[in-house]
Amino acid sequence: GEKLPLDAAIITASDKGSRGERVDKSGPKVKEMLEAAGYTVADMTILPDEQAALEAKMKEYAARGIGLIVTTGGTGFSPRDITPEATLSVCERLAPGIPEAMRALSMQVTHRAMLSRAQAGICRRSLIVNLPGSAKAVEECLGFVLPELQHGIEILR
Ligand code: MTE
Repeated sequence: GEKLPLDAAIITASDKGSRGERVDKSGPKVKEMLEAAGYTVADMTILPDEQAALEAKMKEYAARGIGLIVTTGGTGFSPRDITPEATLSVCERLAPGIPEAMRALSMQVTHRAMLSRAQAGICRRSLIVNLPGSAKAVEECLGFVLPELQHGIEILR
């Protein structure tokens, strides 16, 4: 419940982005939105869609005590999409209301919102929130949930 500075880290999960074959627009979009909401973005990284690498980075950020870890990408049905599984495996507790809200509100924008397998949960003292990969989906989904995240993060510490 103590008021502490809001810090965050961002993980873009993208095979092409990690190889430099695609410019990551979604990670910077997350950063812009978090900073506008008063967060300090402590770190940002692009990783391939590999479960072990994603888990290791989430655990590293949680060990550093970063309050909010936002991922973008890898939540769909393509065979390499593995971000939700990495998230489930590092979280001790889940926060299903966050992706439920993202999907419910996103359904007003596109019915394809039902195709995101995004998860959210708690790893140590960090809240991890998955977002879909496109900058448009990031803007919509993060916009829906961001105003409520600070309260949850404060309760965590
Ligand atoms: N949610 C919102 N708000 N807006 C979108 O455009 N795109 C959907 C969905 N969620 C979308 C959205 C689509 S088309 C897919 S395939 C899934 O997110 C998964 O996206 P990902 O594979 O990039 O993670």
